[in-house]
Amino acid sequence: MSLLLANRAKFHWSPHRENHRSFAMVEIREFTMQDYPAAHALWRESEGISLREADSPERIKYFLDRNPAMSFVAYDQDRLVGAALCGQDGRRGYLHHVAVARLSRRSGIGSALVFRCLEKLQTCGIQRCHLFVEQENSDAMAFWRGIGWFERSDLRMMSRDLGGLPHS
Ligand SMILES: CC(C)(COP(=O)(O)OP(=O)(O)OC[C@H]1O[C@@H](n2cnc3c(N)ncnc32)[C@H](O)[C@@H]1OP(=O)(O)O)[C@@H](O)C(=O)NCCC(=O)NCCS
Repeated sequence: MSLLLANRAKFHWSPHRENHRSFAMVEIREFTMQDYPAAHALWRESEGISLREADSPERIKYFLDRNPAMSFVAYDQDRLVGAALCGQDGRRGYLHHVAVARLSRRSGIGSALVFRCLEKLQTCGIQRCHLFVEQENSDAMAFWRGIGWFERSDLRMMSRDLGGLPHS
């Protein structure tokens, strides 16, 4: 089961972190399909991220097209060191697959990626963002709590596969 977390667009990241020594070389850019191979490789090697059919190039392209200029990547020169997918459904925002390369962690890249995504959601009038955390991923929980997210112990997550539905 996944944990559901929410953020009320109250940002704890601040731009001064961009002056951090190890952050100085890192550039945050919009996620495009050119970033997909490197982002997919990062997700594949990141604990706490499970890849599915929904992460195929076709599905990620569909996601990015539906949510233009909302997802971001971080580059240290020509090396992708972070990625975050962000989308919205008109009511709420959702983050997926926020990941930072192991050697680049704890220098503010993860929180900078999240901040950029939340900024975009805010410009669309979205007031709250949700995300899912795998039950055992305590490092991620520390990260999310550390940047202002709270756990939704009042909700449980339900899912259904659509493969068995009859076509009309
Ligand atoms: C979670 C993750 C994206 C964090 O990225 P990051 O760039 O290291 O995060 P930041 O440097 O922006 O951390 C911001 C704050 O979060 C907290 N934090 C981050 N990682 C933490 C950890 N492992 N333990 C405790 N607190 C942590 C700290 O308060 C930190 O601020 P500080 O360094 O000044 O103390 C990264 O660890 C990762 O890619 N993990 C594997 C993939 C994953 O689990 N993704 C989340 C799926 S829900």
